[in-house]
Amino acid sequence: MVKGSALTKQLLSLGRGGVFAPKPINLNTLIDKAAGLFCRTRSGVAITRKLAPDLPSVEADPGQMEQVMLNLLVNAWQAMSRQGDMTLVSEAVTLSEAFCESYKRRPGRYVHLSLADTGKGMDEATLARIFEPFFTTKDVGQGTGLGLATVYAIIKHHQGIIRVDSQPGQGTTFHIFLPVSAKAAVAETTRDDAVLRGSGTVLLVDDEDGIRLVAGRILKQLGYQVFPAESGLRALEIYHRERDRIDLVILDMLMPGMGGAETFQKLKEIDPGVRVLLSSGYSLDGEAQQVMAAGARGFIQKPYRLTVLSHMVAEILGAP
Ligand SMILES: Nc1ncnc2c1ncn2[C@@H]1O[C@H](COP(=O)(O)OP(=O)(O)OP(=O)(O)O)[C@@H](O)[C@H]1O
Ligand SMILES: [Mg+2]
Repeated sequence: MVKGSALTKQLLSLGRGGVFAPKPINLNTLIDKAAGLFCRTRSGVAITRKLAPDLPSVEADPGQMEQVMLNLLVNAWQAMSRQGDMTLVSEAVTLSEAFCESYKRRPGRYVHLSLADTGKGMDEATLARIFEPFFTTKDVGQGTGLGLATVYAIIKHHQGIIRVDSQPGQGTTFHIFLPVSAKAAVAETTRDDAVLRGSGTVLLVDDEDGIRLVAGRILKQLGYQVFPAESGLRALEIYHRERDRIDLVILDMLMPGMGGAETFQKLKEIDPGVRVLLSSGYSLDGEAQQVMAAGARGFIQKPYRLTVLSHMVAEILGAP
């Protein structure tokens, strides 16, 4: 397993392509986007939005904040057994010294975002541990326990505050506070900034536990089914068995034992039409270029950027 700090780095790097990229944004726009996306794919949930019309901007990484929203929405949805009401509120507030002290933050103007659900709530023992990596109350295979650890890491990175109010049977409310930025919000309009969802099955081949865990999780959130494989050999074994179901292979170039280039050749022997997205921590170098020339569909550099990953996968799978 990956160590805590390395894992946090991995979790954080996904939204930012190597660089933490905060910019002044209006959280209402982001809430609308995330809630819209969420509602379209899940029936049975009603989300009420009470958004302050003149919300000040905050300096935040849009990809990371979107991840925060989605993780909280998914948790709420699961806590309500997939049916119920959620309320999303945004407002500007002034936080006092007394309130900020225990979080080691400066008092002043913050944007407050809350998400309330009417789900089953949590007892004290659960509440005390929810932000721990790998803490989950869900059945084996249902949850990794990384959702809130990621949320916590992201909010901390933004100099923000996160707290939660919950009681068994009384629902749960998550509160997030982010410092108000002096700069005006940059309009979030470019299409390339949008995360694209899709469907299909992806074989994710990488020898690094953290990459398989985090990228696998993101792919699932984007709507894909995922088979993880920790080596080239294992990838071949799975592809042999599941080739009718697998729509795309994401293949790491540098792995101990059978590397990406050799795995690609062997995959082509099983299925000449195999669709492969190459991935590497290095830029497109000599060997990766050869594999591209031999028919790989694309190349993506690690650490993955959420938006870039979602676009490449959707493009190769023929989605819009
Ligand atoms: N809105 C909520 N209502 C009730 N319990 C919650 C809520 N959000 C989180 N929890 C509790 O906190 C635990 C940890 O949440 P976290 O998102 O970190 O992991 P997970 O949801 O179990 O797994 P994953 O996010 O990987 O699917 C959950 O297992 C659940 O017990
Ligand atoms: Mg979760």
